[in-house]
Amino acid sequence: MSPSLTLLGLLALTSVSSSYGKIYENASDIPSLDSYGYVIVGGGLTGSVVASRLTENSNTTVLVLEAGVSHQGVEIIEVPGLQSFTGPGTIYNWNYTSVPQVHLLNNTIPAPRGHVLGGSSSINGMWYTRGSSADYDRWANVTGDQGWLWDELQSYFKKSESLVAPVDGHNTTGQYDPALHGTQGPLQVTVGGFSQSLDQLVMGRLDQDFPFIEDYDNGEPIGFGWTQTTIGNGSRSSAATAYLDDYLNRTNLDVAVNSLAIRIFASNGSRIDTVTFTANGLPINVTARVEVLLAAGVFNTPHILLNSGIGDASELSAMNIPVVHNLPSVGKNLTEQPAISSLWNTSNPVSAAQAEVDYENAIAQWNSNRTGRMVLAISNTVGFARMNVSSPEVQALVEEYGELAPGPASPHFELLPTNAFDAETNFENAQFIFDSVNLVPYSRGSVTLNSANPLGPPLIDYNFYSAPQDILVMRQAVLGALSFISTPDWQDFLTAPASSLLAAVVDEYPNVSNATMDAYIRATTSISFHAVGSCSMSPAGADWGVVDPDFHVKGVAGLRVIDTSIMPFAPAGHSQAAAYVIAERAADIIKGST
Ligand SMILES: Cc1cc2nc3c(=O)[nH]c(=O)nc-3n(C[C@H](O)[C@H](O)[C@H](O)COP(=O)(O)OP(=O)(O)OC[C@H]3O[C@@H](n4cnc5c(N)ncnc54)[C@H](O)[C@@H]3O)c2cc1C
Ligand SMILES: *[C@@H]1O[C@H](CO)[C@@H](O)[C@H](O)[C@H]1NC(C)=O
Ligand SMILES: *[C@@H]1O[C@H](CO)[C@@H](O)[C@H](O)[C@H]1NC(C)=O
Ligand SMILES: *[C@@H]1O[C@H](CO)[C@@H](O)[C@H](O)[C@H]1NC(C)=O
Ligand SMILES: *[C@@H]1O[C@H](CO)[C@@H](O)[C@H](O)[C@H]1NC(C)=O
Ligand SMILES: *[C@@H]1O[C@H](CO)[C@@H](O)[C@H](O)[C@H]1NC(C)=O
Ligand SMILES: *[C@@H]1O[C@H](CO)[C@@H](O)[C@H](O)[C@H]1NC(C)=O
Ligand SMILES: *[C@@H]1O[C@H](CO)[C@@H](O)[C@H](O)[C@H]1NC(C)=O
Ligand SMILES: *[C@@H]1O[C@H](CO)[C@@H](O)[C@H](O)[C@H]1NC(C)=O
Ligand SMILES: *[C@@H]1O[C@H](CO)[C@@H](O)[C@H](O)[C@H]1NC(C)=O
Ligand SMILES: *[C@@H]1O[C@H](CO)[C@@H](O)[C@H](O)[C@H]1NC(C)=O
Ligand SMILES: *[C@@H]1O[C@H](CO)[C@@H](O)[C@H](O)[C@H]1NC(C)=O
Ligand SMILES: *[C@@H]1O[C@H](CO)[C@@H](O)[C@H](O)[C@H]1NC(C)=O
Repeated sequence: MSPSLTLLGLLALTSVSSSYGKIYENASDIPSLDSYGYVIVGGGLTGSVVASRLTENSNTTVLVLEAGVSHQGVEIIEVPGLQSFTGPGTIYNWNYTSVPQVHLLNNTIPAPRGHVLGGSSSINGMWYTRGSSADYDRWANVTGDQGWLWDELQSYFKKSESLVAPVDGHNTTGQYDPALHGTQGPLQVTVGGFSQSLDQLVMGRLDQDFPFIEDYDNGEPIGFGWTQTTIGNGSRSSAATAYLDDYLNRTNLDVAVNSLAIRIFASNGSRIDTVTFTANGLPINVTARVEVLLAAGVFNTPHILLNSGIGDASELSAMNIPVVHNLPSVGKNLTEQPAISSLWNTSNPVSAAQAEVDYENAIAQWNSNRTGRMVLAISNTVGFARMNVSSPEVQALVEEYGELAPGPASPHFELLPTNAFDAETNFENAQFIFDSVNLVPYSRGSVTLNSANPLGPPLIDYNFYSAPQDILVMRQAVLGALSFISTPDWQDFLTAPASSLLAAVVDEYPNVSNATMDAYIRATTSISFHAVGSCSMSPAGADWGVVDPDFHVKGVAGLRVIDTSIMPFAPAGHSQAAAYVIAERAADIIKGST
C-alpha cells in the first residue's frame, strides 16, 4: 500500500535518544581495507547477529558492508504500527518485483527486502513464529547434520530471545508458555500490548475444528494463539536494535552503510578474500584476513555469487561472466509460501475522517508513553491448521502426493485475521483481511542475472503453482478461512466480500467449483515475505546445494553464506525466528573453527 506523505508529515515523533556508536556513512572513513578478520556482506538480520557475536571476542575484527542506510532515528521503522510505510518505493526497500508468474495470469508480484541496517528485520511484520519441530528435523535429515535438529536448536532460540511483558501490562498467563522462551537474549519478543475487539471475535470462534494453542512455538503449532512479535517496550526490536546498537562502541566492529557489494574474488591464489563494493559511486576493494561472509539475503546473495562467477557454468558463460567455480544450484530452489489476502467489508464502519483522528491520537499516545494502537504490528491472533482429512478432495490429494508437511503435527496452512488498514491513513478503517498462506510449497523458483544488466536487479521467479499440489493446498487454505468465518458472530461482523472474485467463491461456498476457486486464487495470490532456499544447504559432498551444513560454499575456500538463502525448506511459519537461529549457530560454528 502506498504511504500517505501528508500523514507522514504529521509524525511529530520524539527523537530517539541513544548513544550511537560508529556507523560509517562515508566509506572513505573506513579505517583499513586489509586488516579485518571478517568482512560481512549485508548488515541485515543474519549479518547483524553474526557481526555482534563474532566481535564478543575482542581479537576478532569485523567489517559489515550494508548497501542501505542506518535504521537509527527512523520513526517508521521504530514504531510498530507504521510498518507498512517501509514498503516498496522507499529508501528502506530494494523495490524488487518478480518476473511474470505464468500460473498467476502472468501477474508480477512484489519481492520486497529491507535496504537498511537490520535488513528485512527493520521492515518486517514482526511476527515471531518458529515453525514446527519437524521443519528443523527435516533440515537435519536433508543435510545430514544433526545440529539442525529442533532439540539441538532450542538453546539458540533461547539465546537470541528475551520474552518481555506487553506494554499494556495485561495478564499474559495462558497466552504463551514461558518455559519455551529465552529471557536473557538481545531480541525482544512480546504478545500484543493493545487489545482489539477482533481478538475476542477470533478467540470466541475456537472449537475442535479450530482449537486454541497456548504457544505455537512449542514445535507442534496447530491451532489459533496469541501472536508473538519482535517488539519490546512498544518499539520494534530488529537485528540492528538488538544486536548492533549496544555494541557499536566495540573497537573491533565497524559498520559501513551506503556500501553496495558487487562481487567477491580471490586476490591471491584461489581463496576468496576480497569484496568489491561501491560507495558514492566509486569502487573500493576490501580484503578479509580470515573469511568473507555473505549475508545479503535470499535475492542478493545468489546475485553476488553469480556476478562473481560462482554458479551454473553454462549460464554464466552465456552471459560472458568468467566462471570461477561451477556450482549449478546457486539461485535455484527459491522457495516462497504463496498467500492470499481475502478482503471483507464489515458492519463496523469507521469513516476515513475518524480513522485519521484515531491515527493521530495513536501517534500522540505512542509519543507520550509508548502505549496504544501503535505498539501493535499487525494482528494479535494467528492460526495454523492442517487440511481437513474428512474432505474427499483432501483424501485424493494425500493419496496422490502423500503427506505434504514434514510431520503429522506440522501445519499445511496459516490463517491471519487482521483489521484492514486504510490506504490513506494507514489505520484501521472498517474492513477485514483474512490471509490464507500455503505453508508447504513444493514449487521451486529461481534468482538469475538479468542479461541486460547483470549488476541491476536480478530476475526473481517464485514460479508459484508450478508444482500442482500447491494450488490444491491453497484451495483448502481459502476454504479453511471461509469455514472459520461461517459462524453467526462472524456473519454479523462481515457484510460482504470486497471483490467480485471473492464474492463468486462465497456464493458457491461450501461447494465451490474448482474453476471459481482457481480463478480467485490465480488472480490474487501474492507473497508471504518468507522467501528462502536460493543457496541451499546440502550434505557435505553432495552434487547439489550451495553450502555445506557449516555454511562453507562448496568447493570455494574462504567463503560462507550465513543468511536465509541456505534454508533447504521454508519453516511452517514466518522466517525470522529461524533466521535468528541460523545466525546464532553460524556464529558459534565460525568461532569454533578459527
Ligand atoms: C516486508 C517483509 C515482511 C516480513 N514479515 C515477517 C514477519 O512478520 N515475520 C517473520 O518472521 N519474517 C518476516 N519477514 C521475513 C524476514 O524478515 C526475513 O526472512 C529475514 O529478515 C531474512 O534475513 P536475512 O539476513 O537473510 O536477509 P535480510 O534481513 O533481508 O538482510 C539482507 C541485508 O543485506 C543487505 N544487502 C543486500 N545486498 C547487498 C549488497 N549487494 N551489498 C551490501 N549489502 C547488501 C540488505 O540491504 C539487507 O540489509 C518479512 C520480510 C519482509 C521483506
Ligand atoms: C567522503 O569522504 C571523503 C574523504 O574525506 C570526501 O572527499 C568525500 O567528499 C566524502 N563524500 C561524501 C559523499 O560525503
Ligand atoms: C587474544 O589474543 C591474545 C594474543 O594472542 C591472547 O593472549 C588472548 O587470550 C586472546 N583473547 C581472546 C579473548 O581470545
Ligand atoms: C526504492 O525506490 C525508492 C523510490 O523510488 C528509491 O528512493 C530507493 O532508492 C529505491 N531503493 C533502491 C535500493 O534502489
Ligand atoms: C503469459 O505469457 C506467456 C508468454 O508471453 C503467454 O504465452 C501466455 O499466453 C500468457 N498467459 C496469459 C494467461 O496471459
Ligand atoms: C532421512 O529420513 C529418511 C526417512 O526417515 C531416512 O531413511 C534417512 O536415512 C534420513 N537421512 C538422514 C541423512 O538422516
Ligand atoms: C493471571 O491470570 C491467571 C489465570 O487466569 C490467574 O491465575 C492469575 O492470578 C492472574 N495473575 C494476576 C497477577 O492477576
Ligand atoms: C520504555 O519506554 C519508556 C517510555 O519511553 C521509558 O521510560 C523506559 O525507560 C523504557 N524501558 C526500557 C526497559 O527500555
Ligand atoms: C560499550 O558500552 C557498553 C554499555 O554502555 C559498556 O558496557 C561496554 O563496556 C562498552 N564497550 C567498550 C568496548 O567500550
Ligand atoms: C580491485 O581489485 C581488482 C583485482 O585485483 C582490480 O582489478 C581493481 O582495479 C581493484 N579495484 C580498486 C578500486 O582498487
Ligand atoms: C533442489 O533441492 C532438491 C532437494 O530438496 C535437490 O534434490 C535438487 O537437486 C535441488 N535442485 C537444484 C537445482 O539445486
Ligand atoms: C499513556 O497515555 C495515555 C494517553 O495518551 C493514557 O491514557 C494512558 O493511561 C497512559 N499509559 C500509561 C501506562 O502511562
Ligand atoms: C476439483 O479438483 C480436484 C483435484 O484436482 C478433483 O479431485 C475434483 O474432482 C475436481 N472437482 C470437480 C467438480 O471437477
